[in-house]
Amino acid sequence: MPTLPVDLLRTVIQETPLVIYAKDTDRRFVLSNRMHGLLVERPEGAVLGRTDTELFGDAAAEVEGNTARVLAERVVIASEYTLPIAGELRTYLETIFPLRNAAGDVIGAGGIATDITARRALEVALQERATELERTLVALRAAQSELIRNEKMAALGTLAATVAHEVNTPLGVGLTAATVLQDLVDSLSDSADHGTLTRAGLRASLDDARAAATLAVRSLERAGKLVASLQQVAVDRSIPDLRTTHLAAWLRELEDSLRPSARRSGVALAFRVEGDHLLVFAAGELQQVVTNLVVNAFTHAFESASQDLADRRVDVIVTLTDAVLTLSVRDNGCGMAPEVAARAVEPFFTTRRAGGGSGLGLHVAHSIAVERFGGALHIDSAPGRGTAITLELPLGTPALALVESR
Ligand SMILES: Nc1ncnc2c1ncn2[C@@H]1O[C@H](COP(=O)(O)OP(=O)(O)O)[C@@H](O)[C@H]1O
Ligand SMILES: [Mg+2]
Repeated sequence: MPTLPVDLLRTVIQETPLVIYAKDTDRRFVLSNRMHGLLVERPEGAVLGRTDTELFGDAAAEVEGNTARVLAERVVIASEYTLPIAGELRTYLETIFPLRNAAGDVIGAGGIATDITARRALEVALQERATELERTLVALRAAQSELIRNEKMAALGTLAATVAHEVNTPLGVGLTAATVLQDLVDSLSDSADHGTLTRAGLRASLDDARAAATLAVRSLERAGKLVASLQQVAVDRSIPDLRTTHLAAWLRELEDSLRPSARRSGVALAFRVEGDHLLVFAAGELQQVVTNLVVNAFTHAFESASQDLADRRVDVIVTLTDAVLTLSVRDNGCGMAPEVAARAVEPFFTTRRAGGGSGLGLHVAHSIAVERFGGALHIDSAPGRGTAITLELPLGTPALALVESR
């Protein structure tokens, strides 16, 4: 290292904004620069030859301890401390290091300190800001789950109101019919008691009673059906219903079970699947989904008389890739108007209320696909172009997994 002119060295030490000092092996100051003088609030002359303890008493215990360790153990020690300087608390980062002569002997300790008050304040402010942000985040999360909960409660409320309304109508009709029946019986027994019952009167009363009874039975059946389909919606889907089965064989069984109603509806029903796959899956629920979709096609797709009777088709097409089981139910029927397609999976949405539709078939299919299988249900339909409803169910879930493919 080239020797620096002593004057230059002295200037650098004096002018640097760093605190620089040096002590001998007795921990007495041998060097104190301008910034050190400002730090200890004493002129150079009052510092040199004295120890920190002599200058500051007990307040210097830490820096004295560190200096002693540097001298004895030849280590470098960095520490941070806060002091009141000119009536203001200031924080310093100080490094104390051993000074050696050319022979390598320790001849004292050097110290360099930097005023990090501003940086510390910034760090503290940042820390406070981070804590505040974290608190805000926690509050936001709480608000979010509260919103979701409210949303669910609102949905539940709507559902309950709709259910009450739906079930109330047939119950009301049933009750009216039963009351009519009761009156008829009362007046019949009255006429019998008073001997005023005529053959024609009995005939007429019986006809009325039959009509009232039929209406009561039909209404109560409808209410019962609604309650039964609601139980389907509410069914606890966490209960596993897993079956290990060959996909093709299982689909054939399902096709057979749907064939009689296909025949009644005059529809050609065909299931198609490629390959032989052994699956473990929630068979009961998948069966319900496929049944709902196929029965929907039978009931809704071929309503219009214009549909050619000889050419009514419903195809169920199943394909399996590495990751997804795709199941598509297609018909070549009337299709759905856009506003019907948009609302079709809503609970209780039906275009056949009078015909006894519950409006729950697609809703149940959709929620099983999404909630049980973690998949999706898409509707592709347009007036005059038929309907395709496609399920995409990911493989490798608790509800559906591939055992082997051949
Ligand atoms: N294959 C289809 N072709 C035409 N319209 C359909 C088809 N499937 C469903 N829809 C329409 O979607 C509505 C909702 O179906 P869904 O939820 O099963 O209730 P529902 O069958 O009781 O009416 C039906 O009322 C019908 O308008
Ligand atoms: Mg239906």
